Amino acid sequence: MKSIPPNFAWFNLPNLPMPVKVLFSGYLLAIGLGLCMAGLQIMQTHGMADGKPGLSLDDIVYSYYGNRSGSKLESKLNGSMKGMSTPEVRLGIIKWVRNGAPETEWEPQFKGIFNQYCVQCHGPGSGVADFSQYEEVKKVAKIDEGASIQALIRSSHIHLFGISFIFFFVGFIFSFAVGVPKWLKISAIAIPFAFLIVDVFSWWLTRWNPSFAWLTLVGGFGYSIAATIMWFMSMYQMWVLSRNGKIYGNAWEADLK
Ligand code: HEC
Repeated sequence: MKSIPPNFAWFNLPNLPMPVKVLFSGYLLAIGLGLCMAGLQIMQTHGMADGKPGLSLDDIVYSYYGNRSGSKLESKLNGSMKGMSTPEVRLGIIKWVRNGAPETEWEPQFKGIFNQYCVQCHGPGSGVADFSQYEEVKKVAKIDEGASIQALIRSSHIHLFGISFIFFFVGFIFSFAVGVPKWLKISAIAIPFAFLIVDVFSWWLTRWNPSFAWLTLVGGFGYSIAATIMWFMSMYQMWVLSRNGKIYGNAWEADLK
């Protein structure tokens, strides 16, 4: 075992010099706020994917796998938009949509139908989809195939790069903790990285097969919990535990044993 100078007794979270504590705490505060915002954003985007608030397995399936049983237009025409036209008109639109909503039939036939039954609400600037334009109708007439490969590649590399930076520093700060059993410290530092990889991997699996959606939930909750534990223990040791005036000794040296 290497010998370490004995004067590293301040090398632990409670006894760190004040400037380093301020540096670590400032980072943890900003990152903590950022993680809360990320949680809110997930609730707003993915959370509403199935039309109901709150994150559920269905949201994850809709976000990554899509709803391949049909288009949004068809499911709306069988749902909240059912009463907006006559049954014949509704069936006519659904047939057209199932044929791939060809543009050749838009001008002669469907433009008029949408104008008559839908555009009074779905007009330009109405805040809901503008059905006076073929392009807008086409968008909701497509089968929803979930996340595109490009979107998955983009969010995968952003997540892997960005979030591992967060976990690196949170874990680094936590490595100065005292009185934590070594196995617990190692697990708390390793788990976020493992779950991050599970999380990103699960998006691809879910896009391929919706029964993997639960893995996304497990991954997300797993790393959130591990990061939260490290966050609170680090803050506690720097600002509360330190008040007893005790010298704890070199935290890294303690973990050599
Ligand atoms: C009385 C007003 C009104 C009429 C008429 C109406 N809609 Fe809607 N539509 C809405 C509102 C409000 C929403 C948003 C709330 C919702 O999704 O239920 C909406 C949402 C939709 C959506 C989902 C759009 C999206 O991007 O999420 C589709 C598809 C749709 N309507 C189709 C139609 C069709 C087709 C017709 C005509 C047969 C029609 N609507 C007639 C009010 C109307």
